[in-house]
Amino acid sequence: MAMDVLIDEFRLAERVKALGTTLRSDYGPDTPIHLVAVLKGAFMFLADVIRAIEGPVSCDFIAVSSYGSGTTSSGEVRLTKDLDFSLEGRDVVIVEDIVDTGLTLSYLQEILRAREPRSLKTMCLLSKPSRRKVDVKVEYTGFTIEDRFVVGYGLDYSERYRNLPYIGLLDGAA
Ligand code: IMP
Ligand code: MG
Repeated sequence: MAMDVLIDEFRLAERVKALGTTLRSDYGPDTPIHLVAVLKGAFMFLADVIRAIEGPVSCDFIAVSSYGSGTTSSGEVRLTKDLDFSLEGRDVVIVEDIVDTGLTLSYLQEILRAREPRSLKTMCLLSKPSRRKVDVKVEYTGFTIEDRFVVGYGLDYSERYRNLPYIGLLDGAA
């Protein structure tokens, strides 16, 4: 079975590296940046982008699940794993795999902002703007894509395909 490749591993690596460099230059060389990665989809993106950020950086993980399964989210979001560290006074960047309707991210931004970080920004590898239901602010986006269901590089369909080193089109799979 060959899957259609939307973004190959070389384009991914180049873009992810650029995101890390941009982040560091926006915060300045000595500012500690605290990355909050959203499990599980963002684990591979986090692993690569953190290596592209020079200087002081830390990370933590949070997990959410939206009720319902399959290829669309229902909009109801639940926290399934909380952070290990307080966000108070920190410069926090949410690291997410993909913004689709925006419901997951707007929920996350709301609960994390309540923990009084000094600043809160969001970085997403992928964005599907045509699917947006809520106008959520994303400061850093890797790639803007069409309304196609994608897998790989951490993203799954029913827990499969996270291991692909590229972003593939699921509906291209036979
Ligand atoms: P949203 O709440 O609709 O923005 O959904 C965001 C979440 O849905 C992401 O964190 C993914 O887990 C999942 N998701 C949305 N689109 C895709 C896709 O094309 N492939 C894999 N997961 C997706
Ligand atoms: Mg996700």
